[in-house]
Amino acid sequence: MFFVFPSADAIAQHLSQHIIDTIKRKPNAVLGLATGSTMLPVYQRFAEQVQEHALDLSQVTTYNLDEYVGLAPEHPQSYNHYMHEHLFDKIKLDDSQVYLPSGHCADIDLECKEYSAKIQACGGLDFQLLGIGTNGHIGFNEPYTAFDSQTHVVELSENTRIDNGRFFDNWAEVPTHAITMGIQDIMQAKEIILVATGAHKAEVMANLFNSPIDEAMPASILKQHPRIKIFMDQSAASLIP
Ligand code: F6R
Repeated sequence: MFFVFPSADAIAQHLSQHIIDTIKRKPNAVLGLATGSTMLPVYQRFAEQVQEHALDLSQVTTYNLDEYVGLAPEHPQSYNHYMHEHLFDKIKLDDSQVYLPSGHCADIDLECKEYSAKIQACGGLDFQLLGIGTNGHIGFNEPYTAFDSQTHVVELSENTRIDNGRFFDNWAEVPTHAITMGIQDIMQAKEIILVATGAHKAEVMANLFNSPIDEAMPASILKQHPRIKIFMDQSAASLIP
């Protein structure tokens, strides 16, 4: 379940190839995507390989895990903006193929219900890509989120706001809430790969490795998934015995 790679680039190469193989096997694959710094080398390599292989993505659909509440899609720190900049525009995915939960809509409760329902309606996620927060969150499912949760609005923990504050000009601008796929939505994916890179993830990865399945450590539920792989670079794996 836990795999250690020599570097973040080696993970990016392996993962990119894995996603390509998934799409070659199933051209209409439904992919669950994440944002964050961890995914940048993955998306860069994937975009390069899509071009190298002239891969046909016309039937692929993607669902992102999460979005900040209150940021318009075109806000430079919104996850919508991130996805377009780092992936969708590079691989020319049409807007009709990509879904992100909206944190900027009139009825956010309805948005939550519809987002989980849309994923179910298209047959569920074939593959879910995950990063992990330093407090063990997956998506924005913070510690003590119910394992049976579906898409919902969360109040971000101070830990997460501090971690993500680096992208905002000042503390007041760091969003306090986000909309995220629930843990149940994530667990229903047919296959999941979680990625952790860098020394700042070493502590959480040791905690995850040692943790029983417990809502205090959201990512611990993944140990129950029949097709889960956890990829770490050497720095992130450095505290695992
Ligand atoms: C982002 C997401 C989060 C991040 C996590 C790690 O869509 O779902 O769970 O994966 O916060 O973020 P980075 O990669 O910036 O360390």
